[in-house]
Amino acid sequence: MHISLFPRTDLFARLGLLLAALGATSLLAQTEPTNAVPVASTNIAPTEPTNTVPAIPMLQVKADQVTAKVSPMLYGLMTEEINYSYEGGLYGELVRNRTFKANPTNAVFWDTINDTKISLDTNMPLNAALNVSLKMDTSEATKNHTVGIVNNGYWGIPVLPNTTYHLSFYAKGENFSGPLEVGLEHIGSTNVIKITDGSTISLDTNTMQVLGNTAPPKEWGAGAAYMADRWQLAGAEIPKISKDWQKYEVTLTTGNIKPTKNNQLFISAYKGGSSFWHRHSSIWFQQVSLFPPTFNNRANGNRPDLMQLLADMNPKFLRLPGGNYLEGDYINERFDWKKTIGDISQRPGHRSPWNYWSTDGFGLMEYLNWCEDLRMEPLLAVFAGYALKHDYIKPGPDLEPYVQDALEEIEYVTGDARATKWGAQRAKDGHPEPFPLHYVEVGNEDWFDRSGSYDGRFAQFFNAIKAKYPDLQVIATTPVKGVTPDFVDEHYYRSQEQMEAQSHMYDTRKREGPKIFVGEWATRVGRPTPNMAGALGDAAWMCCMERNSDLVLLESYAPLFVNVSDLSRGGSMQWPSDLIGYDALTSYGSPSYYAQKMFSTHHGDTLLATDSQNLPTHAWQPPARTRNGVPQGERPGPQEVPSLFYDATRDSQSGTIYLKVVNRQGTAQPVYVQISGISAVEAQGTATVLKADKLDDTNSIQEPVKIVPVTEAVDGLGTDFTRTFPAYSITILELKAK
Ligand code: AHR
Repeated sequence: MHISLFPRTDLFARLGLLLAALGATSLLAQTEPTNAVPVASTNIAPTEPTNTVPAIPMLQVKADQVTAKVSPMLYGLMTEEINYSYEGGLYGELVRNRTFKANPTNAVFWDTINDTKISLDTNMPLNAALNVSLKMDTSEATKNHTVGIVNNGYWGIPVLPNTTYHLSFYAKGENFSGPLEVGLEHIGSTNVIKITDGSTISLDTNTMQVLGNTAPPKEWGAGAAYMADRWQLAGAEIPKISKDWQKYEVTLTTGNIKPTKNNQLFISAYKGGSSFWHRHSSIWFQQVSLFPPTFNNRANGNRPDLMQLLADMNPKFLRLPGGNYLEGDYINERFDWKKTIGDISQRPGHRSPWNYWSTDGFGLMEYLNWCEDLRMEPLLAVFAGYALKHDYIKPGPDLEPYVQDALEEIEYVTGDARATKWGAQRAKDGHPEPFPLHYVEVGNEDWFDRSGSYDGRFAQFFNAIKAKYPDLQVIATTPVKGVTPDFVDEHYYRSQEQMEAQSHMYDTRKREGPKIFVGEWATRVGRPTPNMAGALGDAAWMCCMERNSDLVLLESYAPLFVNVSDLSRGGSMQWPSDLIGYDALTSYGSPSYYAQKMFSTHHGDTLLATDSQNLPTHAWQPPARTRNGVPQGERPGPQEVPSLFYDATRDSQSGTIYLKVVNRQGTAQPVYVQISGISAVEAQGTATVLKADKLDDTNSIQEPVKIVPVTEAVDGLGTDFTRTFPAYSITILELKAK
């Protein structure tokens, strides 16, 4: 078991004097460098023994004392529809409000070309799920004009060079049979067109390229230039539109253009001077969808850059589908999984508690495919009869349909395709093989349920799940009475100082009883994504969880994603401090993302006992506890909090020791490291370091890789060495132990 010792100067001083007297020079590092002993590259080396008290902290790794196994499932992901995480984020769909249900009275996020009129029409439904359509009325179109509709996506539509986009929609016409012109166009006034030879036009280098050579008006002459506010980047024609609902699909392929996001999708018709165009023509649309290439080329799939950022973290599980998103504000706004599967045109969609519409195009099967693509397991949270605005279902017969729904959901994920109803449905939906599933969580944050119904609700779910699926591990969202859950989910959203202050919390936690799933946590410093202070708090906390991963078997940071396009109120972010940021075109990992990735990809399978002396500390005044802004109880006294955090794991196959050290101070910190219980450690090893000059240094769309880890070979390691850890840094040393 880990022993945590905060400054024990007396003990260490006495030990130093004793060892000095014995001439044990290799055990205690001194402050003056010398060439006498091989040292690590940034070392301060031990020198001659003296009688002075050693000034630098000591970390001891007891390589012969394995205290526990590192949970192989420790590092996972948590996600939900928040901050435009799926629609406007991970989900590949580029059209916003594709089903026209985001607002009951207006076709929000849709615009018109010229004299076109649009309205929502509930009298022309596509089906019972998509029971409203967009009516495009062209009766006021003027001759030689284009009419049509446009959509600007989620703060832009990203368009890349030499790329094929898949456009589909349902449409029907009245007094209109086509053709429709569809395509992607660039908007903005950046397109300076120069007449280069008097007969054709082309764009300035580095701006957009015109598709084909368009003849300019002769009278312009050579060398003329003008600004255009629209450029077609890709287009296609749909020759005929039926008078009944029909699905239309085309591909749109771009040329050698510059990647941009200032683009829109258009669907238009041209009213030529000579062509017949009925005065009362109308066209109705539903489910207008535009997909770019997706990760693993999945239909209805995910955005590749975000998937790659996640894949690089090597996550072991995905807690889905929330969070608040599981519960909804009201019971009829919960994540109702049966309404999120099958053909996307049969999914009605629902309002999310984060105040925007979800088409549910990203439904249960899409979550499961996401897991499969990243080789992680779903950790399935089932709706447990409680919604955020305190609506709840009484345990007993009233709750039974919800319990059955959860059992059927588990069957959908894991059931045999030939022997079970919901397994067969999964096969019909495209996935005959069952998905792996070991963890089911009942509800979310049920400590908010002040009615006290969770004990009863949890027991009812727990008993039913265990009866049918005895091998499943069932997670409670708060401690319960009556039955003993396999896990309890704990959530920690904290400041940097709070995370550091609780960084030894689990060292002394009792090992009996349920295991712990830290299903949501984050150091909330930095907006929209955490800065280096956040990463340092996270790393201190991850040392704690990893060091105690015999108890904390699962952890997932939250929230995972934020669309950073519009940070104003009511914009693209509902919750600041999110791991990964993006706009329509590009994405980046925050310093916290890199800290998380460092931890999840650098650890052994066994935990080693560690010890420390003389660790630096700092004074911290905890804030008063408040409720609704009003201070509660007595103000807590000041605390002495460590400024250095650490843990050590070892790979039992290769022998590699992973020593993690977090220095939260603004100055570099020399540390004397001793590896005991082992014959030798190679002088050469590896150091992976994430550091910053300032606590508020961060990454952003503009500077996506300002703070990233650097891995380098280091020399001078051994069973004891001194290494200086940079200011504001997270270091993982890989020591090759024999
Ligand atoms: O992660 C954001 C929210 O925080 C989650 O939806 C909820 O579970 C928690 O309160």
